[in-house]
Amino acid sequence: MISWMVDKLWVATTLQSELGIKKDKILFSEHHLSHAASAYLCSPFDEAAILTVDGVGEWVTATYGVGRGNDIRLLKQIEFPHSLGLLYSAFTAFLGFEVNEGEYKVMGMAPYGKPRYVDKVWKLVRQNADGSFALNMDYFCFHHSTDRTYNRKFTGLFGDPRPPKMLFFTQETGFPKYFGTPPGNYAEVSRLNQHYADVAASIQAVTEELLLHMANHLHKETGLTRLCIAGGVGLNSVANSRILRETPFEELYIQPAAGDGGGALGAALWVYNSLLGKPRQFVMNHAYWGHSYGEGEIVAFLRDNNIAYRRFENEDELLDQVVHRLVQGKVVGWSQGRFEWGPRALGNRSILADPRNPEMKDIVNAKIKFREPYRPFAPSVLAEDAEKYFELPDAAKHYPARYMLYVVPVKISQQSTLPAITHVDGTGRLQTVFRDESQRYYNLIQRFGQATGVPVLLNTSFNLKGEPIVNTPENAFHTFSKSEMDALVLDNFMVEKAA
Ligand SMILES: [Fe+2]
Repeated sequence: MISWMVDKLWVATTLQSELGIKKDKILFSEHHLSHAASAYLCSPFDEAAILTVDGVGEWVTATYGVGRGNDIRLLKQIEFPHSLGLLYSAFTAFLGFEVNEGEYKVMGMAPYGKPRYVDKVWKLVRQNADGSFALNMDYFCFHHSTDRTYNRKFTGLFGDPRPPKMLFFTQETGFPKYFGTPPGNYAEVSRLNQHYADVAASIQAVTEELLLHMANHLHKETGLTRLCIAGGVGLNSVANSRILRETPFEELYIQPAAGDGGGALGAALWVYNSLLGKPRQFVMNHAYWGHSYGEGEIVAFLRDNNIAYRRFENEDELLDQVVHRLVQGKVVGWSQGRFEWGPRALGNRSILADPRNPEMKDIVNAKIKFREPYRPFAPSVLAEDAEKYFELPDAAKHYPARYMLYVVPVKISQQSTLPAITHVDGTGRLQTVFRDESQRYYNLIQRFGQATGVPVLLNTSFNLKGEPIVNTPENAFHTFSKSEMDALVLDNFMVEKAA
């Protein structure tokens, strides 16, 4: 109510006065319709089932629908307070992370635990025969509180919440070297973290069950074999790959900004294709839609700040230099062309390292991010080589893999080849890289493959802990200088730290 009174009711008036237009020129697209359109209308499918799941938009938290040609029909909806997104967020808060930010950390922590508490989680939520679900509101307070999501009855089930600053380590992870000296109460904190990891595993397991149930039901109702997913829950790449593996849907499409960041895209596509009936011509097959910086801007920045650099006329030479450093165990900041749409770094604003080195997780964490072990590093692999390393048949045909939206097992035979990108449960959140869409990144991985026999790079987002992903050459340079990264590549330029 507060956000409606202060903001949302006045959006039309604000638009009118700021843009100087008449009210009848303003059209609102419903939140979940925008989500649905943001996936289906830029998918390669002429016909597909659509599933949108998030926290809440207007009063809706999830929808089922069908897209045919230019049309989208939403057939069913689930309404507030019954929300899978808000259920997951309650656990995000309980586990000491920021709501709407830290959900992926819950997903990353889950493999360190066992889903011991699924029975308790099922006290909070019930799934219905028609594919819908309902929360038991006795355990929550997000429907009447602005700052708390769960109540005492909830902590009665799961214990005290995890303090946000508590370091994460368990018996299994040991105490990471980059955390410093182990605390005196090491054993106790380690046991507590194991409990929290078990809670994370339990909510993740129930979320996956609910999504599988919804997807199966949607398949039964529509008989379709293709599925478009949108809404913040669509970023749960572990659940996505289970939907692909365990439901009759054969192909999924999810675009990289599946959360609310994709709302504008969906609204625009819905008006253009569905309302105005313009032909669908656009398939989003890469994520590089952000701003890029010209050579002149980069040189001006480097010169104005007296930064020593090398400029490479020849791409091969630049790539050789980068590969040489990666093989030596160095960590390279890599900023190229347009930045990525959506929350994942996909090789244009990335930090790169050698995935074959078992020490590399700790090296990158210590040098760059000071991140906890539950945040796995992702592998970028040439699309045509993906099946050699990952359990994803026909990897190149699956769009979500272009955007790191599937977590799949690393082939057992390859886990020892790729220790730095294999998560504790033997999985990896792969990115398939195509020559046509990311030429220079593709060439780099290919060259690394020629040098090492392994066409895979460790790719993590180009930012420090708690900061947004870098955008400008200036952002990139500052992040580079604040960290212990060894080299920085800005398009054709390379900057290095003095040895
Ligand atoms: Fe949303």
